[in-house]
Amino acid sequence: MSEKITYDKENLKTVKEGLTEIEFPEFDKVSSDAPVFYNPKMELNRDISILAIQTFQKELSQTINVADVFGGSGIRGIRYKKEIDNIGNVAVNDINPLANEFTKINALHNNVEIKEDNFEIFSHEANNFLRMTRGEFDVVDIDPFGTPSFFVDSVAASIKRNSLLCLTATDTSALCGTYKAPCIRKYNAKPYKSEYCHENGIRILAGFTALTFAKYKKYIDIKLSHSTEHYMRIYMEIKKGSKATDESLENIGYISHCKNCLNREFSYGLGSSTIDRCPVCGEKMVHAGPMWLGKIEDKDFIREMLGLLDVKELNTKDEIKSLLEKCLNEAECNPSSYDIHEISRCLKISAPKIDKVMDDLNKKNYYAKRTHFSPTSIKTDAPIEEIRNSVKKLSIGK
Ligand SMILES: C[S@@+](CC[C@H](N)C(=O)[O-])C[C@H]1O[C@@H](n2cnc3c(N)ncnc32)[C@H](O)[C@@H]1O
Repeated sequence: MSEKITYDKENLKTVKEGLTEIEFPEFDKVSSDAPVFYNPKMELNRDISILAIQTFQKELSQTINVADVFGGSGIRGIRYKKEIDNIGNVAVNDINPLANEFTKINALHNNVEIKEDNFEIFSHEANNFLRMTRGEFDVVDIDPFGTPSFFVDSVAASIKRNSLLCLTATDTSALCGTYKAPCIRKYNAKPYKSEYCHENGIRILAGFTALTFAKYKKYIDIKLSHSTEHYMRIYMEIKKGSKATDESLENIGYISHCKNCLNREFSYGLGSSTIDRCPVCGEKMVHAGPMWLGKIEDKDFIREMLGLLDVKELNTKDEIKSLLEKCLNEAECNPSSYDIHEISRCLKISAPKIDKVMDDLNKKNYYAKRTHFSPTSIKTDAPIEEIRNSVKKLSIGK
């Protein structure tokens, strides 16, 4: 006999995102203890997902089937059904029966008919759901509490070729290296807490995903990734083929960091040896990885997403535009970035204006660009000595 679900019907909260209005039992604090999970801070994430999935659908040029594996209130799956063109089946899954109840209520409230509109609700443990539905979806959205690491193997086994995987991680303290041991346990990678630890976190998550997928002769092609507020999110197309998978693993490697002069070196290949001493100052280097050192932003994909901003009704358009323009700017840059304030601290001088440092490096024929990862950092192909020289020359008070 199924369990009777109870909740306070007098105490519901209603919210509207995009074209979708949903309700759920009111709670005091956003946490995994909420009767039905809803986080208003993730509206930006859901809005960006709509643009990314629509861009992928246009690229694929066919009707797409989508799985929202951690459905919560149903807002994500219902929005995908209502707000993305050429959507076929949408499956919303959640282990919490009350979440499923609200997904049903919210679907009907938004005129999404469960059977007629190919909208289905499932209540399985996520790994079971993924393995039971092998090959059924063109898009799989993984948005769990904390780490997605427990689910990546099931996605790898079940997702079909030429599909899109949308992956969220909220365990940023592990991925960024605040807590080293959990990162090693969950992602089999050593993090390092540096000025560019959020980018490294995304690269560790991507590296772990690529290595897990490789077992199944599948590989990743990252279209967009961003670190925002308390979470990291990666959109990646999944392709198949043993030779191409082997080649894609050449993107796995290590970053060696010099704490003395802030130089960093990249070693490509899972079994590659890392650089022990800094080639610039001779100090012992610290290492992070294995991680994905390949592309994490795709220019064409992001341009398409920006082009869709005018045709979608989204509440966070200004934030999306600002974020996507930064991500577009970062495409084709080297991994990692240089924090001008950190370099100034290291040189014991006051920090110059970042734009001036960028102009100075541009004049020397290096690229120098802003990054969404940090307002005080730049991405550049200039060597550390050149960056330090520019910072010294332009330091305020000189
Ligand atoms: C972060 S919330 C999802 C939020 C939702 N995607 C959104 O955008 O609002 C995670 C959800 O996963 C469900 N969940 C947790 N562990 C699960 C598991 N092992 N299998 C399936 N669902 C799970 C929880 O009940 C919760 O509703």
